[in-house]
Amino acid sequence: MMRMLAIESSCDETAAAIVRAGRWVEGNVVASQIALHATYGGVVPEIASRAHVQALVPVVRQAMEQAEVGWDDIDLVAGTKGPGLAGSLLIGLNAAKAIAYARDLPFLGVNHLEGHIYANWLAEASEEGIAPPAPEFPLLCLIVSGGHSDLVLMRGHGDLVRLGRTRDDAAGEAFDKVARILGLGFPGGPAIQKAAERGDPSRFPLPRAWLPGTYDFSFSGLKTAVLRLVEPLGKDVPVADVAASFQESVADVLSAKATRAAAAFGVHQLAIAGGVAANSALRQMVVERSPVSVRLPALKYCTDNAAMIASAAFGRYIAGARSDFATDVSPNLPVAPADRALEARR
Ligand SMILES: Nc1ncnc2c1ncn2[C@@H]1O[C@H](COP(=O)(O)OP(=O)(O)OP(=O)(O)O)[C@@H](O)[C@H]1O
Ligand SMILES: [Mg+2]
Repeated sequence: MMRMLAIESSCDETAAAIVRAGRWVEGNVVASQIALHATYGGVVPEIASRAHVQALVPVVRQAMEQAEVGWDDIDLVAGTKGPGLAGSLLIGLNAAKAIAYARDLPFLGVNHLEGHIYANWLAEASEEGIAPPAPEFPLLCLIVSGGHSDLVLMRGHGDLVRLGRTRDDAAGEAFDKVARILGLGFPGGPAIQKAAERGDPSRFPLPRAWLPGTYDFSFSGLKTAVLRLVEPLGKDVPVADVAASFQESVADVLSAKATRAAAAFGVHQLAIAGGVAANSALRQMVVERSPVSVRLPALKYCTDNAAMIASAAFGRYIAGARSDFATDVSPNLPVAPADRALEARR
């Protein structure tokens, strides 16, 4: 069965993984740069690129050691081509190409957001035979990450259309900005989820941008509403209640629109993906409201990793994609082309 080596370096994580048959994770290593960027309050592109150069070879070695494989055991090499920071993408993509070239192996460039979806295919190699079956098409996918919020209809491997996207902030970005307003630190998602555990989600009725007639999202108004709510309170902010009310508003809109789309497009299953897919309130609400069975990726595969990139490369390979050394980085690559009929109605 085909074994993939994948490299991911689109933002501030240097990652490598070995995955067999698009599903079974044999090795998975993620080197986070978060400490390097913390003092700047965000990712500094030049620092990120340099850190990728330093981390790359050790991370690939570790992933192969974990998987207990040698170069001869690998059948295909994949790398993230975009979206992401150009300088960061270049390091991982060119390293993946170089390895493939040196080993005379096929190479595939992978869309990072498509990769997030494939977190739903992953399981530990030791779980082969007991893990649930692979997701079934047609699949409705809600991708909610630090930089993107997309609703995607996936009719098969390599066959994706985008039904909607965010018009301003991504869901994860909203979590991060609101966490900053509440003084909860970075990354904001896990901090808000934790604070919300002790809070009352109905205390503050925060706005929801429904954007009727579309599958688009908008979160910048919500962020501003939180700011307006908190500013006059000075030091007496009921952090837990604000966090819970904010989280409720985001989860409400995301789950309502994703489950509505699942019904409208008659899909077989609904999958969520990306860092915000780790959020327990969102997971619960999607499961409660969905008309079809829901796929939830393991928490460790929600945020950036290379195992999901290996799995997505396998999906593309099944769909007929073959080695493509001409692939270049594409910093603004969308998850998929927009659905034409929906676009025309806008
Ligand atoms: N439990 C959680 N609840 C809500 N948000 C979360 C949680 N865990 C992580 N996040 C959010 O997920 C985001 C990071 O996810 P991810 O790694 O997928 O994003 P990214 O790779 O930076 O962005 P992109 O994939 O769009 O390029 C951050 O915004 C973080 O706050
Ligand atoms: Mg990501």
